[in-house]
Amino acid sequence: MEEKKDIMILAVESSCDETAAAVVKNGREVLSNVISSQIALHTLYGGVVPEIASRKHIENIDGVITQALEDAGVTLEEIDAIGVTYGPGLVGALLVGLAEAKALAYAAGKPLIGVHHIEGHICANYIEHKDFTPPYMALVVSGGHSHLVYVSDYGKYEILGRTRDDAAGEAYDKVARAIGMGYPGGPKIDAAAKKGNPDAVKFPRVYLEEDSYDFSFSGLKSAVLNYVNKQKMLGEKIVPEDIAASFQQSVVEVLVNKTIKAAKERGVKKIALAGGVASNSALREKMQQDCEKEGFYLSIPSPILCTDNAAMIGCAAYYEYIAGVRDGLDLNANPSLKLGER
Ligand code: KG4
Ligand code: ZN
Repeated sequence: MEEKKDIMILAVESSCDETAAAVVKNGREVLSNVISSQIALHTLYGGVVPEIASRKHIENIDGVITQALEDAGVTLEEIDAIGVTYGPGLVGALLVGLAEAKALAYAAGKPLIGVHHIEGHICANYIEHKDFTPPYMALVVSGGHSHLVYVSDYGKYEILGRTRDDAAGEAYDKVARAIGMGYPGGPKIDAAAKKGNPDAVKFPRVYLEEDSYDFSFSGLKSAVLNYVNKQKMLGEKIVPEDIAASFQQSVVEVLVNKTIKAAKERGVKKIALAGGVASNSALREKMQQDCEKEGFYLSIPSPILCTDNAAMIGCAAYYEYIAGVRDGLDLNANPSLKLGER
C-alpha cells in the first residue's frame, strides 16, 4: 500500500503589527513558527501606525520566511502549498504578506491559499489539542474583533454575535491608555488586575437585548473614563490596579456568560477560545471554571498561539487545501473580509 504523503504548508501572516511565517505539517504539527513583533516600535505612538507597520513588514518578511523554512528544515520545493492571510486587517500590511506569498507561489509553482485571519485564530485550537474537532462554540476576542461563532464543521462558520462598537482587545487598549498603562493594554491590565480588587468599582455589565449574542464595550470604556475623571475632579486618588481588576471582571463576566448561553442553546458540548484576548488569565480561568461547572470541554491555545502568528494560518490553510480550495494570483487583500466568505 502506498504511504500517505505528508502535506506541508508554508504560511504567511502580516495583517497587523506582527510579521510571521510558519511551516505546518498535516494541519496540526508546527515545524516552525517565526514571529517578528513590531510592538516596541508602535508603543512609541500609543497604538499601531499603519504606514509604519507596512514598511516594517517589507523589511522583515524575507528574513522571517527564510527563518521559518530553515527552522523547519524544509526547502520551498518540499512545500505543498502557500497559505496567506488576505483579510481582514490593515490593507497596506496585508498587501506585503500577500504579494510575497504570491511571488513565492508563482516562482516555485505552488498553489496559493488565501486565509481569513479570524479563521486562523479559531484554528489555533487544532494545533495544541490534536483531537479537538467541530462542532463547537468559539469565542474570538482580539484587538479588532469580538465574535461568537458556531463552528459546525471545518471551514463552516456561523456568526451568532459580534461587537457593535469596540472589540474586547480595543477596550483593553483604550482603558489601559486612560489609566496610564500604555500599549498594548491587554497584557498590562491583565498583570495589574492581579494586584487589584475586582469589586472595588462597580462597572456596568452590558448584555444588550435578552436574546442577543452581540457585544458592546464602548459603554464600559466610557464608564471607566468617567470614573477616572470624576475621581480626579474630586481630588481623590485612583488605584489603577483596582480599576484594571474591576474593568476586567466586567468584560470577562459578559464574555463567559454569553458564550456558555450560546453553547447551551446550540446544544454543543465543546467551547473554544481564540484571539489575542484569549491569552488573558482571568478570561481563561473563569471560562475554565464555568465550563467545568456546566460540563463543557474547553480548548484554549497557549498564549503564543492566541496572539497573531502564522502557525494558525498554516492550520487553516491545510483544511482549505484538503477541501480543494485554491486561489489565483489575482487574489487581492480585503481589509473587511467577512468570515466564511471567499
Ligand atoms: O489577536 P491579536 O494579536 O491581534 C488582532 O488580530 O487584533 O490581538 C491583540 C489584542 C490587543 O488588543 C491586546 O491588548 C490583546 O489582544 N491582548 C490581551 C492580552 N494579550 C493580548 N488582552 C487581555 N489580556 C491579555 N493578556
Ligand atoms: Zn489577530
